[in-house]
Amino acid sequence: MNNIKYKEFTNGEMDEYFSWLDTDGNVINASDGGIIFVDGKYYWYGMKLRPLPSLGGGKGGQTTTVGVVMYSSSDLYNWNYEGVILHCSNEVGHPLYGPMRFERPKVIYNEKTKQFVMWVHYIEYPGDHGFAIGTAEAGVATCSTINGEYEWRGYTRPVDNAGAVRDCTLYKDHDGTGYFIYDRAVDDEDRCLYIVKLSEDYLSFTNEYRRLDVAYRREAAAILYQNGYYFMITSGLTSWRTNPAKYFRAESLWGPWTDMGDPCVNDTGTTFESQSTYILPVEGKSGFFIHMAERHNTQNFERCSYIWLPVEFPTADTICLNYRKTWKLEDFI
Ligand code: DGJ
Repeated sequence: MNNIKYKEFTNGEMDEYFSWLDTDGNVINASDGGIIFVDGKYYWYGMKLRPLPSLGGGKGGQTTTVGVVMYSSSDLYNWNYEGVILHCSNEVGHPLYGPMRFERPKVIYNEKTKQFVMWVHYIEYPGDHGFAIGTAEAGVATCSTINGEYEWRGYTRPVDNAGAVRDCTLYKDHDGTGYFIYDRAVDDEDRCLYIVKLSEDYLSFTNEYRRLDVAYRREAAAILYQNGYYFMITSGLTSWRTNPAKYFRAESLWGPWTDMGDPCVNDTGTTFESQSTYILPVEGKSGFFIHMAERHNTQNFERCSYIWLPVEFPTADTICLNYRKTWKLEDFI
């Protein structure tokens, strides 16, 4: 147990040594994940990246030989390591044989089946992006408890096999319907965000989907709902390099979505040197959301850092993000 007791958020520096530490004093390494609130606690999960410097072509730190890990917290500042919730396999030929990728894991709870359902961007060994089946899939796993060992249920592609799956996210609507939002890549150029309605048990895709034409060549989608509007923050397509965020607004998840421009105030076109991954509604604080972003460290992926900022509403139908080196929840709620 270390003596650190954080009482505020301190947004990461782009260097080798500044990282968020868990309550054991170890670097928090939960790439591009999300947070879910269960029975009075927050559970933060993400893919555990490797310390290797990027060797290019996905064989470097962008992959994992561990899997998806989880932390828990009651205050959002201090995180206890809960362990690996979706394990890579050491068995050659196993679909989870590492190094591989479970990029952008997201978990939602299904009240009907009483299952926690995780969807990921799955890339089989050795974890290189591709278009062949097995290299760009939507993978799904389930567990009856939030922090148990998730059971791998396999992978598939929404819409059709012609569209590879890249960055993805989940959104559970206020009526309990689940949606999978992802960058569908027909080839390196023809890439667009799609939204697909999940089956009632969240374990498969229905044939109800939309191509979000306005989100052509966008990725890293993160969604919130407030004031009767859905807001979706996205990044551009520049691999691990930063680019200007752009958000969209709609009154229905099916659209029409309106391009609202860059939400970042006084930014230098880099989304504060980070990329979005999830938007957390803070429990019991209606209308208060945290935009979770990751500052990718391509020199040592084990030490990516996190940029968490409050989502602000200049008007009921707009959002913005102001960079803060440090801030507290109490400053806003
Ligand atoms: C691949 C993208 O090109 C990167 O920007 C980043 O989003 C990673 N996926 C991890 O999600």
